[in-house]
Amino acid sequence: MKRRIGILTSGGDCPGLNATIRGVAKACFECFGQNNVQIVGISNGYYGLINNMCRDMAPSEFSGILTRGGTILGTKRQPFKMMTVIGEDNVDKVKNMKDTYRKQKLDCLLTLGGNGTHKTSQLLASEGLNVIGLPKTIDNDIYGTDVTFGFHTAVDIATDAIDRLHTTAASHSRILLCEIMGNKAGWLTLYSGIAGGADIILIPEIPYDIDIVCESVMKRNESGKNFSILAVAEGAYDIEEAKLKKKERAKLRAEKGIVTATSRIAAQIQQKTGIEARVCVPGHMLRGGSPSAYDRMLATQFGVHAAKLILQEKYGRTVAKVGGEITSNKLADIAGKTKFVDPKDQLVSTAKNLGVSFGD
Ligand code: F6P
Repeated sequence: MKRRIGILTSGGDCPGLNATIRGVAKACFECFGQNNVQIVGISNGYYGLINNMCRDMAPSEFSGILTRGGTILGTKRQPFKMMTVIGEDNVDKVKNMKDTYRKQKLDCLLTLGGNGTHKTSQLLASEGLNVIGLPKTIDNDIYGTDVTFGFHTAVDIATDAIDRLHTTAASHSRILLCEIMGNKAGWLTLYSGIAGGADIILIPEIPYDIDIVCESVMKRNESGKNFSILAVAEGAYDIEEAKLKKKERAKLRAEKGIVTATSRIAAQIQQKTGIEARVCVPGHMLRGGSPSAYDRMLATQFGVHAAKLILQEKYGRTVAKVGGEITSNKLADIAGKTKFVDPKDQLVSTAKNLGVSFGD
């Protein structure tokens, strides 16, 4: 009997998904023999699992995809909080996912995704399915792993964006703010801000005081530097907003007509310092294109490790990298938790020692 391994990619795409799929498939072919294993591709994440959008994949489909961005399986956001809610369509999503698993005669299910994906993976594991998660996200915010695949490619792209802002900022004596994705975590902004030589780095984990941000800009000006570069996390907020709950913050922003933190910061800096401030938003460019060499390596290591877990029939786990070792954590231990930047992180103090301001 052929072992049947289901695989899906869920949530936002990122570089390294295909490299991971390839790693899993090739390692499974090595472990079990190509004729003893069937990879079942599930389209568009959990949506495909709910709607039985599955197909047996040919081994040739896993060749030539190491360098390809996005996901050959397609992906979709399927919020965890709605998984157990039966909507107007009357679809019991959890039941459907379990039915698909059985109809497809899967021995296990591999889920490549971020925090939301892992919560649903844990839900399915608790329902008795054999699930293995693989940590994907440019946000690097999955608990229990030092790094996620996609992160380092995004750091490279964000760093390049910040690099390229320097020339215009210096030529026009401007302040340029680069808004960087990362959801509620500041990892991507912290890494690319340091690598790109940003003068000010604003991340959600360190709420900023706009007056301190402006003081830093003025201090640079007074010392003869005619421009400043800010790396701003999309989730950044100020010390006043820090006192509010997430929903209250969103409500207040909507009332004030604030579209993004970065656009507000730019307007405030311009008004308080009199220096022209502009915003650049690389957005989804950070998730696009081919994975970096680092991410190809990491994705491959993660994929191979997942195949080892299948061989050992160790399920209910998610692959991780901890202190240089590829390992795995129990899904139950990491699902629902987020890895944030510790304001005391060595990288934060490294940046502060260079004179970078965090607005605190
Ligand atoms: O989780 C990855 C991520 O790119 C976040 O950094 C960002 O907040 C979010 O996804 C954007 O999601 P979408 O592409 O669905 O708008």
